[in-house]
Amino acid sequence: MERVLIVDDDEGLVYFLRRFFSREGLDVCTCGSGTAAVETVSAQPFDLILLDYKMPGLNGLDTLKEIRRRQVKTPIIVMTAYGTMETAIEAMRLGAYDYLLKPFDRQELQRLSRDALEVNRLMKEVVDICEPGATPSASSEGSPARIVGSNRRMQEIFKLIGQVADKDVTILITGESGTGKELIARAIYHHSHRKERPLLAVNCAAIPETLFESELFGHERGAFTGADRVHIGRFEACHGGTLFFDEIGDMPLSTQAKILRVIQYGEFERLGGTQKIKTDVRTIAATNKDLEREVAEGRFREDLYWRLKIISIHLPPLRERMEDLPALVEYFRDRFSREYRTTIRHVDSAALERLKSYFWPGNIRELENCMRRAVLLAPGDVILKEHLDIGQDKPGQAQSESPEQLSTRLYRNLEDLIPDLLKVSGTNIHGSIIDTVERVFISKVLSQCGFNQVKAARMLGISRNTLRNRMKKFDIPGAQDGLP
Ligand SMILES: Nc1ncnc2c1ncn2[C@@H]1O[C@H](COP(=O)(O)OP(=O)(O)OP(=O)(O)O)[C@@H](O)[C@H]1O
Ligand SMILES: [Mg+2]
Repeated sequence: MERVLIVDDDEGLVYFLRRFFSREGLDVCTCGSGTAAVETVSAQPFDLILLDYKMPGLNGLDTLKEIRRRQVKTPIIVMTAYGTMETAIEAMRLGAYDYLLKPFDRQELQRLSRDALEVNRLMKEVVDICEPGATPSASSEGSPARIVGSNRRMQEIFKLIGQVADKDVTILITGESGTGKELIARAIYHHSHRKERPLLAVNCAAIPETLFESELFGHERGAFTGADRVHIGRFEACHGGTLFFDEIGDMPLSTQAKILRVIQYGEFERLGGTQKIKTDVRTIAATNKDLEREVAEGRFREDLYWRLKIISIHLPPLRERMEDLPALVEYFRDRFSREYRTTIRHVDSAALERLKSYFWPGNIRELENCMRRAVLLAPGDVILKEHLDIGQDKPGQAQSESPEQLSTRLYRNLEDLIPDLLKVSGTNIHGSIIDTVERVFISKVLSQCGFNQVKAARMLGISRNTLRNRMKKFDIPGAQDGLP
């Protein structure tokens, strides 16, 4: 159960907040003074802190400073009266998550506290990388979540994370929906020197275009109709921390130019302001869109794309790393049977075969949901085929890939092979590479056609003579059946 600490000397407000957060399903703890709050926070962990500004003894700002000095990164919402905007801004500078101007309404409180709890979840759950060969045991409470993957491409990704997590470079993460982009972003954060500072996520698809810039850069009072007070944007609030732009492909074009400037020079102005504000933020971006295509079609700025792409991580879809499936299944079985306290110890072999035969268009998220359901519904200690609720196998499911998706996939697979191909020896490297690819390709097609050369030649679109020549050249043995 998540825990909230309410720090206020106003008993009426404490009563209201206690009731509000209990109904939200949180465990509530209260303190009547800043000093008591500092002591409490030093002794026990919280997921959210609501802090009043005006209190006898230590005021809200001093309390905030003391809490932050103790390396506690729990989101803190400061509550302050309307006349004291300066305080609110100062609180943000000192590392408050946000502020509430009294009197506030239930909706505002709910929106802000839910957002803050989400941020806390992102920061709190450490993400670890599964060592190759290690059995992926699931996270029990307090132990890290894991990125499971022994597939070669995943291992390369883990290596890259190790190389760049601690450098302050911008990182772009791409991949289909459900492939683990957010998980990778969190792993980078947890392996960076900024891990004691906040991680804020901005879901670019969820912010209306008109509010985008004020959300990121903040605004001065009077910057536009309705801007009746100064607003601190994410870039300012996240100073020293990490900003995660999720779905960056959905960011409005006009905002993209400004973001690029912040990434390059670390400065911006609030809307309606003239003062340059410096910020030190590490940016991680993710998208399931093909940004190259977005650039070609004029929906994404080319300069920002190239800036983001310097270090990019592409997560392959699950169907291209099926060798990871058994480990993922085991990981989710273990995790969910702990979470729901069930006695499921095993996944039956027919069930595993069924899981292996599916195309997984929703990737790891779909597998995760399927396993969650199976763990909850299987009555004994084994998951059987009938406990799996997965889509019908459509025979040509793989063909539901569009021609563009297929060509992107081929391109990426080939790109991955380049380092190995370049190891091919010989003076004519280009010719040797073509030969290597052709040899592998012809052998595969032949074996798929049961060594029937007529069929193989037809499939390859070459004459039987050419096929025979190639087999001779590459020393490919032909099985006897299939020969006339
Ligand atoms: N390699 C992995 N090992 C273990 N769990 C994983 C792995 N990859 C993804 N997951 C889990 O699968 C779920 C989906 O991952 P995540 O939310 O990171 O995907 P995403 O790429 O951000 O998806 P979307 O594009 O839909 O936002 C999460 O619960 C995540 O913890
Ligand atoms: Mg995501």
